[in-house]
Amino acid sequence: MQKPLRIAINTGGGDAPGLNAVIRAATLASIRRGHEIFGIRRGYDGLLAGEALLKLDTDRVRGITYLGGTILGTTNRGDPFKWPIKDGDGKTVIIDRSEEVIKAFKRLRIDALIAVGGDGSLKIAQHLCEKGLNVVGVPKTIDNDLAATDVTFGFDTAVATAADAIGKLHSTAESHERVMVVEVMGRYAGWIAIYSGVAASADVILMPEIPYDIDKVCDKIMDREAHGRKFAIVVVAEGARPKDGEMSVRAQSFAGRAEPLLGGIGERVAREIQERTGKETRSLVLGHLQRGGTPTARDRIIALRFGTAAVEAVEAGAFGTMVALQRPSGIVRVPIAEAIAQMKRVNPDGDEVRTARDLGISVGD
Ligand code: F6P
Repeated sequence: MQKPLRIAINTGGGDAPGLNAVIRAATLASIRRGHEIFGIRRGYDGLLAGEALLKLDTDRVRGITYLGGTILGTTNRGDPFKWPIKDGDGKTVIIDRSEEVIKAFKRLRIDALIAVGGDGSLKIAQHLCEKGLNVVGVPKTIDNDLAATDVTFGFDTAVATAADAIGKLHSTAESHERVMVVEVMGRYAGWIAIYSGVAASADVILMPEIPYDIDKVCDKIMDREAHGRKFAIVVVAEGARPKDGEMSVRAQSFAGRAEPLLGGIGERVAREIQERTGKETRSLVLGHLQRGGTPTARDRIIALRFGTAAVEAVEAGAFGTMVALQRPSGIVRVPIAEAIAQMKRVNPDGDEVRTARDLGISVGD
């Protein structure tokens, strides 16, 4: 018989619709199997700040499957291996607090950690695992850019939100005979852009994987004009860049986070289109709207499956693995190290891009 375990769960990195469903599923599965489960607040922050763990029970997780965000809180700073502090002169220095995390887990008699996160949080999980912590990973990112899993939860909700917004822009763009440029999320991968753009009949979709030529974008807009379609919808992933150009970075380092803060590409594309075509062009950034709201049924199902599978993996002692969805098998376990080594990006020759081209959508090349 399986001995009762004390399991901890945390959520790190940008939130994604479905995180609460994972927490609920992991909690109910743990309790049903006779284990105790505790939430750590804000990634590892709660632990390092000496805050008490949050005991998770059926009451705590009731009704949260439908809620966006995470009841545990999250942060995309808080890497215990690279913790910024101020030294005596007020200068920021980076220290390693990972040993404190390991000791805290020992002190709290935690047998295993379920770490729910994207590539950044999973890297931390992998390093903690290498230091002896029993970790099982659960992949999360609205960007859907983890190669080891067919899909991550949060992506479907983000696409639905973006497609809905792009759809709504058609009537106003057409009425005013304007070009509307919509910036969507997608740091290194254009999945949200290509899925939402194709689903909502955009005219141009720009992605990190296909550096764009602004003249080609303008040709598409003017070709529509010549055919009496005096408006256009352009979808731009935040990580898109012009050929021979760079990504639009707002700040290289921002509030101690590991990744640069992106933004501004939509505005830039809109300015260039207006200058070149003379057509009135407006831009908007969908931003964090894509991360909010009720997860779609599809995202809820993936998240609930991941949550229960993570508890099964803990019981099986499959530490250092991440649960993933891989057709046709279904839920599988892959080494975290393997999962973080490879990013899943849109294939410029893949069927999604070919579909866009055949629909007459320009991808800017
Ligand atoms: O990784 C998910 C994501 O939503 C990216 O698409 C985006 O670049 C990033 O998070 C934004 O993070 P933040 O909310 O910290 O600005």
